[in-house]
Amino acid sequence: MQTKIEKIDSSSALAIKIIETHDVDSLDFLSFREKLSYANISHPEKRMEWATARRAIKDALDTLYIPYPGFFKDEHGKSHSMNGNGFVSLSHTEGLAGAIFHRDTPVGIDMDIIREKILRIGFRFLDPSELDFLEKDPLHYTLAWSAKESIFKCQGRRGVSFRDNILLEPFSPDATVIKARIRETDYSDHHYTVHARVINDTVLTYTIW
Ligand SMILES: CC(C)(COP(=O)(O)OP(=O)(O)OC[C@H]1O[C@@H](n2cnc3c(N)ncnc32)[C@H](O)[C@@H]1OP(=O)(O)O)[C@@H](O)C(=O)NCCC(=O)NCCS
Repeated sequence: MQTKIEKIDSSSALAIKIIETHDVDSLDFLSFREKLSYANISHPEKRMEWATARRAIKDALDTLYIPYPGFFKDEHGKSHSMNGNGFVSLSHTEGLAGAIFHRDTPVGIDMDIIREKILRIGFRFLDPSELDFLEKDPLHYTLAWSAKESIFKCQGRRGVSFRDNILLEPFSPDATVIKARIRETDYSDHHYTVHARVINDTVLTYTIW
């Protein structure tokens, strides 16, 4: 399986994997609970996405010499390690799955394919000030969307509105860093730095709390 593994620093790493239909890598490292979850996914593509994302976590952990602890989901859908150590976030999109792990602080990762149609739904997830600075460019809109997804996943709780609660500072379509803050929630004072890059037709973003 093709993988891009990146050690961000001594406490964090990310891995991006191509989802391959003929992958025969073992899933023995999964916890019993995860094996049950996997067995309950009936859709073949979803199974591949799910499994590849877990292999991505494993690869990121291996880079940091951390044993795979097993992960469970809370009531919001966010994954947590079963031994209470470290923070993880996952993403999958057509053909790619990825994960980020940090020893000490929450993280969020997202991947999205750049599509023309995102221009039509900007009003749903963008504040008027963001609509003002964004060019009518699918890449620019996808970066904005993905940055908000990463922040959403980093904070982890449903009920945070992309349009009303996550505000991006102006950035250009070739930006590799996007600054943002969450407003009018319990985390209203928190400022985020989102890292962004483009892999072929896919935007990858991640943030560390
Ligand atoms: C749940 C949500 C975060 C998933 O993101 P996505 O881009 O659709 O899908 P991705 O593949 O990138 O991410 C899926 C992973 O997100 C993780 N996830 C789900 N809910 C989460 C949460 N509340 N917090 C953190 N991570 C979460 C899961 O690990 C999931 O992977 P898994 O099912 O294999 O475990 C997203 O669909 C969502 O609900 N976003 C907020 C809703 C919203 O406000 N939308 C904008 C309206 S205009």
